[in-house]
Amino acid sequence: MPGLAIVGTQWGDEGKGKVTDLLAQDASAIVRFQGGNNAGHTIVRDGEEFKFHLIPSGILHEDKYCVIGNGVVIDPRVLLEEIEGLRRAGISISNLRISANAHLIMPYHILLDTAGELKLGKLSIGTTRRGIGPAYADKALRLGIRVQDMLDEKILRKKIMAALEDKQQVLRELSVRRRKLHKEAEADAEVLIDDRLDLHSITEEYLGYGHRLEPLITDTARLCWNELDAGNKVIFEGAQAALLDLDHGTYPFVTSSNPIAGAACVGAGVGPTDITEVVGIVKAYTTRVGAGPFPTELDDEVGEHMSTRGHEFGTTTGRPRRCGWLDLVALRYAVRLNGTTSLAMTKLDVLAGLETLKVAVRYRSQEGAVLEEFPYHQSVLHHATAEYVDLPGFGEEITGCRLEEDLPPTAREYIAFISDFVGVPISLVGVGPGREQVVWMNSGA
Ligand code: GDP
Ligand code: IMO
Ligand code: MG
Repeated sequence: MPGLAIVGTQWGDEGKGKVTDLLAQDASAIVRFQGGNNAGHTIVRDGEEFKFHLIPSGILHEDKYCVIGNGVVIDPRVLLEEIEGLRRAGISISNLRISANAHLIMPYHILLDTAGELKLGKLSIGTTRRGIGPAYADKALRLGIRVQDMLDEKILRKKIMAALEDKQQVLRELSVRRRKLHKEAEADAEVLIDDRLDLHSITEEYLGYGHRLEPLITDTARLCWNELDAGNKVIFEGAQAALLDLDHGTYPFVTSSNPIAGAACVGAGVGPTDITEVVGIVKAYTTRVGAGPFPTELDDEVGEHMSTRGHEFGTTTGRPRRCGWLDLVALRYAVRLNGTTSLAMTKLDVLAGLETLKVAVRYRSQEGAVLEEFPYHQSVLHHATAEYVDLPGFGEEITGCRLEEDLPPTAREYIAFISDFVGVPISLVGVGPGREQVVWMNSGA
């Protein structure tokens, strides 16, 4: 059986959680391969909403392995909170497994993320401030602390000492600056900051996490090989999306990992030939949280329609998501980058009631040149304007549609246009947040 990757094709929040939960039905393992708790993946089942930041979106299928792969950066405090939440909801985590090689987000990573953003001021990236960038930076610097290190006090202490050494100065400056700025209001927070920088208390804290997580820690690459070798289906669940990819996205307004399908190999420890299917998730329009270029962004009542009907507020930070038309230039780029074999389109229901649906089919550069392809040069992209094709909208609600034939002809036209333009079939369409609110396309559009 194949490995199947599920990846975002825009700037995140396409509905990867919902589609992963759906496609997990016939898989034996679901593996997160990158990112951390900057992700927020939502699943709505029987009216109940679940939000996961680190736990793979297959967890509601209690008989399947849910794996946090080596490519993920883990904040163990957040992970334990999520595990606790699941326990309270009566959901078993007995099949959850954590890679011993995954890197940890440490308290100083979170402070450094915030410090970096404050320093950049107006030019900030708008990170989730969860410590993602600094944790991946330490991994590359070989100063990272791994999950397995929490199981050995001596090693843990030594590694934290080394990691802290080159950060003390920056962290001290941050602490002093904050204290000056918010002398009274943040008095408690300051105590927290000082506390979090202490070698002894960090070591104790992480040893405690290690103790609690130990039964779940294992060689997760081997687990994936065993499942694949036994002929079982393994799903590799991406977080973030292609345009936030560290190498291929809108750098520097990106995350610090590679969310594209190819990274599933590195982040889970499997080979390229183990992945035979790639499902790209695309929202029927576009959203973006944080700063950076967004050629189809809308600042009018149509954008408001998307934001309101789509409840476009970040799952992780609660920030309002910027909204705009679907960008087919960017989507075709993402489809190619991921080796996408089919697309799942979500949130088509949100567009109901709009008379015209626009899709961007090319850009125009500042100098007036026509750009058919996603520009590699950031300055060009920053100044590009999108050019559109107008398609007829659909007035009626589609949340009750379950079959392709139930969809209004103009909705089907919209789907077919997109599929033709990017050159891959659209296999399913989301018409509401519920897991049953989906139309499986019999024609594969
Ligand atoms: P992810 O990060 O890609 O998993 O996506 P998020 O969970 O951050 O954001 C997607 C939001 O859209 C969630 O609130 C989902 O419940 C919701 N959603 C997913 N699919 C659909 C759909 O087809 N229609 C509607 N209206 N909402 C959807
Ligand atoms: P899911 O998996 C949307 C964005 C942040 C910021 C940039 C860098 O739910 O789709 P980071 O904290 O990663 O260093 O922030 O990336 N970002 C996301 N946007 N969905 C996400 O995850 C995101 N994860 C990070 O808003 O612009
Ligand atoms: Mg999300």
